[in-house]
Amino acid sequence: MHYKRFHPYRINTETRDKHADVWLNAEDFIYPYFVVDGENKQEPIATLKGIHRFSVDRLLIDLERTVLAGIDKILLFGVVEADKKNVEGSWSKHDESVVCKAIRAVKQQFPKVMVITDICLCAYTNHGHCGILNNRGDIENDLTLAKLADMALAHARAGADMVSPSAMMDGQVLAIGQALNNNGFNHVNIMGYSAKYASNFYGPFRDAAQSAPGKGNRKSYQMDFRTRHQGIDEVASDIEEGANWVMVKPAHTYLDVIARATHRFPEIPMAAYHTSGEFMMIVAAAEKNLLDEHEAMIEALTAIKRAGASYIISYYARNYSERIKY
Ligand code: PBG
Ligand code: ZN
Repeated sequence: MHYKRFHPYRINTETRDKHADVWLNAEDFIYPYFVVDGENKQEPIATLKGIHRFSVDRLLIDLERTVLAGIDKILLFGVVEADKKNVEGSWSKHDESVVCKAIRAVKQQFPKVMVITDICLCAYTNHGHCGILNNRGDIENDLTLAKLADMALAHARAGADMVSPSAMMDGQVLAIGQALNNNGFNHVNIMGYSAKYASNFYGPFRDAAQSAPGKGNRKSYQMDFRTRHQGIDEVASDIEEGANWVMVKPAHTYLDVIARATHRFPEIPMAAYHTSGEFMMIVAAAEKNLLDEHEAMIEALTAIKRAGASYIISYYARNYSERIKY
């Protein structure tokens, strides 16, 4: 009987390295940052190991280390004080919001760092939902679009390179794109959180961003994880609306969606979000000595790239990049 021998590919480190065809580098990563008002703040986030809420001055200091690790793309999230939240999240469009301040400061000190901002109302509404609610408590998709467009415009005025709507409102990419074009910001790109599922793996993030919904859940606007084709349809629709990049989120538990979407749309850059819950599962397992955190990190992140993602948003981005250089 004839059979193929695979062991020669794996016989030692050198041959394994030679035959590997997925390599993950610092430039593949987007590093998330949480920013708060105030000065000299660097608050550890209990639910996200190694991640902090930074005031703008301290963000700039931390960024030096991130840039040194080779990372050139960041994703900014604003953490908003309770007294600035209201029913319609109006602080989100303010030029003095902490995100706008952070964009200006980062672009001034690190002009080459690509600044991407999250566009969603949940950190700015007092009810914690991602859009405007009617008096029955349901999301008003079309009323929300203008709010998201205003928020994106504020970030564009502050100098953001890319805005990234995560509210999962239908038409959000189109609405934001039109607002940017009408106001002379055609150069600002849009990354759609295209296939964003209503996931259990966002828990630690909501704690970090203080953006959990007070009542109910996000299942009426984020995707149902039992849908297979809709993920591709959502990606297709964002591309049609003019998204420059698309995203699948979560990443590690949705590798199939990444693979199918990149197979179908190979020409558009695909980002994948290794979410807070997926990250902390590895951390928690390592704390119980169930696995080696470093090895598990490499494996999980490599799997996301192997599935087809061009960019990975990850809380491990710096940890990985500081240790691994090809
Ligand atoms: C805001 C937003 C969320 C995440 C990114 N943007 C939370 C949510 O939709 O509830 C999750 C990120 C993570 O879990 O790391 N809409
Ligand atoms: Zn939201």
